[in-house]
Amino acid sequence: MARKYFIETYGCQMNVHDSERMAGLLDQAGYEATADDLDADVVLINTCSVREKAEEKLFTRLGEFHQRELETGERPIVAVAGCVAQQEGSQILKRSRAVDVIIGTQNLKRLPMLVDSAVQAPRRHAPLVDLDPLGDVSFPLGIARRGDPVKAYVTIIEGCNEFCAFCVVPYTRGHERMRPVADILADARNAVDTGAREVQLLGQIVNHYEAPDTSCDFAGLLERLSEIEGLERIRFASPHPRHVTSRMIDAMRRLPKVCRHLHLPVQSGSSRILGAMRRRHTREDYLALVARVREAIPDIALSTDMIVGFPGETAEDFEATLSLTEQVRYHSMFSFKYSPRPNTLALKRLNDDVAEEEKTRRIVALQGLQKDIQGALHRQALGSVQDVLVDSRSRRRDWELSGRTSGNTVVNFAGRADWIGTLVPVRITAANPNSLKGEAVGLLDTVGSRA
Ligand code: SF4
Ligand code: F3S
Repeated sequence: MARKYFIETYGCQMNVHDSERMAGLLDQAGYEATADDLDADVVLINTCSVREKAEEKLFTRLGEFHQRELETGERPIVAVAGCVAQQEGSQILKRSRAVDVIIGTQNLKRLPMLVDSAVQAPRRHAPLVDLDPLGDVSFPLGIARRGDPVKAYVTIIEGCNEFCAFCVVPYTRGHERMRPVADILADARNAVDTGAREVQLLGQIVNHYEAPDTSCDFAGLLERLSEIEGLERIRFASPHPRHVTSRMIDAMRRLPKVCRHLHLPVQSGSSRILGAMRRRHTREDYLALVARVREAIPDIALSTDMIVGFPGETAEDFEATLSLTEQVRYHSMFSFKYSPRPNTLALKRLNDDVAEEEKTRRIVALQGLQKDIQGALHRQALGSVQDVLVDSRSRRRDWELSGRTSGNTVVNFAGRADWIGTLVPVRITAANPNSLKGEAVGLLDTVGSRA
């Protein structure tokens, strides 16, 4: 009987896609997926270290497996992957004995071999730790077990060279490595052939893309992907403001399959704090960029990432974050309280000097403002007809479908299950801060059209 595996994933889309890749590798090696960790012979925890809370989840889970072993004398083989694995390596073993495999972010392809060795090893074997990067970004085509039938993740860049002062990514994901255009196109075509209608390009700084195999920048890549028949939408995350070029804005404007959504991480509204964060753009640069993008693509929806309570952030700096938020009017925002992370420049050189209660006060104020802005933007959409790519049944009501507008807003509406994977024009009838409600006005037959 095939051994069963269970994967739990924390963190970003990059991690979700790594889990899809690792699932595919385990399938190929003869293991079988299970949705129940109590039923699994192998449990793989794909970790995130972006914040301490995310990191602690790993140790909570390891504690549960240890407890299970104490109580029943048994536990599954436990493998730890992802950013905490890369960052902490063997240090994890000092805090927990319930670990059999630790695998880094850049050597996923060796996972089946390590898991096989752990499965065959005698009980209480020495844990296997493999963190040395393979030094190659290729991944066999058609292996990833994609979790979403409509939207497919396609990696274009791995790693990051920016070293923003707060960020672990350059340490956990390594230096920037570009995937060849030929591999990206083949991966996207393969996803479309197996039913996907949208590709979501992944990379820490997608717009820094320069093909290693031919002359092609990010704008050129969007053009090449647009030519894929059957592909209806192209999204990407995340670009860096300082690498947005006129060519990129022009490609987004011209190419109908590229979504009217741009995630443009700003992190703070204060140029002084942006300097301390080593973001290499100012508030003024950023606002000028937003104006350029809006001039070229007036209906674009913008989203961002924001950190409050970065070392040295004064009340005045925080006011600048609020005023930038008011000025840009984002459709959505991921906002966090700063916490120092291992290896980063901010941890080594800056004093985490904003009191916890003050960080909480600031995040509550920022999120309250963002909620008001989102609510107002959603109300503006009332009565409009938006093309919604239907991706699933709604989580709350069985008869309802759920999908996203080109601008990335969730829309729920009544419809037939066979509309999943199609673009449906939907009239917006109700607005909540986090989603819209609507009614279908008929099926579209044009590919790539949008609101
Ligand atoms: Fe981290 Fe993004 Fe800065 Fe790279 S650009 S160091 S991923 S915040
Ligand atoms: Fe977390 Fe690593 Fe992603 S730190 S956010 S899983 S790149």
